[in-house]
Order: sequence, then C-alpha cells, then structure tokens
Amino acid sequence: MSGRDPLSDLPERVSIVEVGPRDGLQNEPAPVSVQARLELVARLVAAGCRRIEAGAFVSPKWVPQMAGTAEVFARLPQTPGVAFSALVPNLHGLEAALRSGVREIAVFAAASETFSRRNVNCSIAESLARCRAVCEAARAAGVAIRGYVSCIAGCPYEGTVPIRRVVEVARALHAMGCYEVSLGDTIGVGTPRRIVEVVRACASELPLSALALHLHDTYGQALANALAGLECGVRTLDASVAGLGGCPYAPGAAGNLASEDLVYMLEGLAIPTGIDLERLIAAGAFICDLLGRPNRSRVALARACRRSD
Ligand code: HMG
Ligand code: MG
Repeated sequence: MSGRDPLSDLPERVSIVEVGPRDGLQNEPAPVSVQARLELVARLVAAGCRRIEAGAFVSPKWVPQMAGTAEVFARLPQTPGVAFSALVPNLHGLEAALRSGVREIAVFAAASETFSRRNVNCSIAESLARCRAVCEAARAAGVAIRGYVSCIAGCPYEGTVPIRRVVEVARALHAMGCYEVSLGDTIGVGTPRRIVEVVRACASELPLSALALHLHDTYGQALANALAGLECGVRTLDASVAGLGGCPYAPGAAGNLASEDLVYMLEGLAIPTGIDLERLIAAGAFICDLLGRPNRSRVALARACRRSD
C-alpha cells in the first residue's frame, strides 16, 4: 500500500449552512408556529451555527409551511457573527424580505425544465430572468445573494439531467452576483462519482471557493457525497438538523444530510466547524419532539441509545 494519506487533501475548515428552519420545515405536513421556528433558530445559534437559512418569502399558497417568515425575521435573535438568510423566488418575495430587514437572500433555479415548472411555475430561462431581476435589486439594496441549482444529479420527473445544464445554471447564477452557488441534489439520487463530476465541471467555470453542496439523503448517499465534495475541495456544505427536509415539488425526496452526522464526521476528520455537537443534537431532539416525528440523524439516534443504556 502506498504511503499517501487518501484524506490528506481535505479542506482545513468547513462552513456549514444550516437549512433546517427552511428546507427542513417546508415539507412538514403541518405548518410549524413562528414561535417554534424561532425557538429552533435560537437553539441552532446556541449550538454555534453561524449561517442559518431561517425561512422563505415564497407564495403561502404554494408552500404554506413558510407563511410567517416575515415575522420570523422580525423576531430573530440579533447575534453578532450569525448570518441569517431567506429563500426568495421573485421580486415580490424580495420586497417582503427587504421590508423584514433581511441581509442575505438565496435565489434558486433548476437544471431540469419539468422541475422548474413544478417548483416555480415557469421555464428555466424564465426563472433565471426572475433571478436576475431579484439579484439586481438585491445588489442595489446591498443584500448578499446565494444561489441554488436544483436537480444536479437527477430530476423526479425527467430522470437524467445533463451535467452541462447544471454548469449553465450555476454559471448564470454566479454571473448575476451570487457569491456562492449551492449545488442541490434535490432528490438525493447522486452517488460520489456523479458529485465529483458535477463539482469538477462547475469548478472549470466558477471558482471552487464559490461552490457549495446541498445534499438530500433519499438513497442514503448524502454523507458519502459530502466527503466526495470535500475531496474535490468544496468547503461549504448545507445540512439540516435532525435530517429534516424535502421539497414539496420533489415527490419521494427525503430529508437533507443531517447536520449532526456531518459535524460528527468532520470532528472525526479533525476539521473544525465551530459547532457544538451535543447542543446541535439537543436542537434536533427539540424539533423532532415538537413535530412528533423520528429523528433522521444517525448520530442523534446513536447518542439517544447510549443515554438510555
Ligand atoms: P405563481 O402562482 O406563478 O405566481 O407562483 P404569480 O406571480 O402568478 O402570482 C400569483 C399569486 O401569488 C399572486 O397573488 C401573487 O401576489 C402571489 P394573488 O394575486 O393571487 O392574491 N405571489 C406571492 N406571494 C407571496 N410571496 C411571493 C409571491 N409571489 C407571487 N414571493 C411562485 C410563482 C414562484 C411565487 C411560486 O411558484 C412559489 O412560491 N414557488 C416556491 C416553491 C418553493 O418554495 N419550493 C421549495 C423551495 S426550493 C427547494 O426546496 C430546493 C432547494 O432546497 C435546493 C434543492 O434541494 O435542490 C433550494
Ligand atoms: Mg433542498
């Protein structure tokens, strides 16, 4: 066996974007109260999360679970060093976000036509035009912009998605001012080979430092895919506490990569995240109790068994 450490090229530090209060709760069968969403955010902040997607200014007719996002933002804890962001689909959403004092937004577009139509009721080209208008207005307002590309590894309606479509959408979002583009495996079908190919293809057109991964765990591949991304040099990963999440327009999509599992793996790799695992587990237990649903984090489940021994 050669002496080279296969894990020697991993990043020295990883930034985690906690998407539980948005992606995690948008797919729950019953809406979660503003008070409970704020309590979840407060616990995530206490656990050391520094980038938190706290809600979405989308149509409440389309996604009722995200109604009340304006109130969430109005009452967020003002914690120095914590960046809260909100998903914004159009100018209507941006105006509401600006009225609520949002300082960072996330725009989103898909690499699959059918998913785009189902999710935002328009084609990819129309959705990119909307994103462009939102980005121009957000830039003028001095608001930071993140971007998402959905369906990077497959589409719930079309199946295969060509990698060049992913690159085109990622490049377009970056060109319109997204400081970071998060590549979303919306339905969690990707395996490490696909993730490596997508990251490499995107990194040939965008700075690697501007890429993040957003991995759903439907097929149990999210943690392996995260490691594949890290091995490619990706330094930002989205994750959701307790593995909550899904998209109402991605049938069959399970939750996100569980934040607890990601932090546990990174601790094992001696890569700092600034997040306290025990407190994060407690935040996950809180929201699962409140929702009356099982915890999808394997680490949280293992720790719960250990405690009840
Ligand atoms: P539409 O029906 O085509 O919109 O929806 P419209 O412009 O024709 O307007 C219809 C009505 O909606 C009007 O009200 C508008 O005012 C209102 P009415 O006159 O009928 O009373 N409206 C809004 N209300 C509140 N906020 C707004 C807004 N915009 C219009 N922003 C629209 C188009 C984009 C609004 C809709 O399709 C929508 O909200 N879609 C969002 C779907 C969504 O949230 N999906 C989940 C998030 S994406 C995701 O999870 C993937 C990700 O995690 C990455 C990954 O995993 O891949 C990010
Ligand atoms: Mg998602």
